[in-house]
Amino acid sequence: PPLRRMISVRDIEETAKQILPYKAFAYYESAADDEVSNIENARAFSRFFFLPRVMRAVSNCDTTSTILGYKTTIPVYISGSALARLGHPLGEVNLTRGAYKTGILQMVSTNASLSYGQIAAARGPDQTIFFQLYKHRRDDTAEKRIREVEELGYKAIFLTVDALIASNRERDTRAPFFIEDYENQGLSVKSESEADEGEVDILGTAGGLIRNNDMDMTWEKTIPWIRSITKLPIVVKGVQSVADAVLAVEAGCDGIVLSNHGGRQLEYSLPPMEILYKIRQQRPDIFDKTEVYIDGGIRRGTDVVKALCLGAKAVGLGRAFLYAQSAYGEAGVVHLARILQREIRFCMESLGARSVKELVPDLVERVDWQPL
Ligand code: FNR
Repeated sequence: PPLRRMISVRDIEETAKQILPYKAFAYYESAADDEVSNIENARAFSRFFFLPRVMRAVSNCDTTSTILGYKTTIPVYISGSALARLGHPLGEVNLTRGAYKTGILQMVSTNASLSYGQIAAARGPDQTIFFQLYKHRRDDTAEKRIREVEELGYKAIFLTVDALIASNRERDTRAPFFIEDYENQGLSVKSESEADEGEVDILGTAGGLIRNNDMDMTWEKTIPWIRSITKLPIVVKGVQSVADAVLAVEAGCDGIVLSNHGGRQLEYSLPPMEILYKIRQQRPDIFDKTEVYIDGGIRRGTDVVKALCLGAKAVGLGRAFLYAQSAYGEAGVVHLARILQREIRFCMESLGARSVKELVPDLVERVDWQPL
């Protein structure tokens, strides 16, 4: 269907599901075990309702914000996700170009399917991109990677700490492995996708992407070690408790991402929105000491705004951007960002908020029943 018919994030997801090779969709969509955390990540937002303020002269509503001091048109970034080329030959470059056109920020995965240099070369003038780091268990390999991306002009290190080992993702494991397998089953494989074929092979070692990660990271050792190598800001991605948020601040992290990896790692890990709420209740001082971001299950402008009301500086989306670029390339990324911008603006205006600074905890309430 034409792009203009896509009026919500879920529409794009639905289209991607129709057109993606089955294995690619299974890899993108999959989550741990019974996929409960993944589903609940999204449902968690529906327990938060708004208490809008009225009569606030909102015609000049400003949706811009910053992440680590870098400007963004909306408080939304592209979260680093592996293998964008499984969905489209241009893969990560679609994300970079789409981010540039809409003025949002992109985090590039360690397991990107193009080289870090190729992605950096796709940047527009003065475009900021960040790097998501899986720390290799060998320090020298990790060090080389950090130096490489700093040299290439990536502006921050998002250290992922919630994926030490490969998890059980049954949707992915069950999906037919080789392109011939799903061609034999009458499933469509995109014709231009010589690139895809190679990538599907990479998934032959599905867990292989996470195989070399350092399982012995600690606050005391690892953060100072990265600091000794790079001047870039360090953000820890995958914080899932109030206690660890406190330790991240004590370790001097420039930011934290509340994330359970889109429900892909530990099944029954609590939805990040609930962790955000706990930090707001128990340790609101955290929000003054470091930037807090959140990802997982965000599909609506209202989801974004709820997280900002509770103290998040910005939110990340993983699957939605993968689906957008899979189905429509760069134009899909632009369109997705515009859908979110429209929804965020409407929500802020309706709340009486003229800027992201005016998104405050009093504007949301958590209910203890689960809506529809
Ligand atoms: C991811 N994610 C991820 N995270 C990370 O730190 N490094 C990575 O390489 C990947 N790879 C990856 C691949 C795929 C296919 C998905 C769907 C996700 C997690 C990602 O950054 C983010 O935390 C979640 O995707 C957020 O949840 P939603 O937006 O997908 O619901």
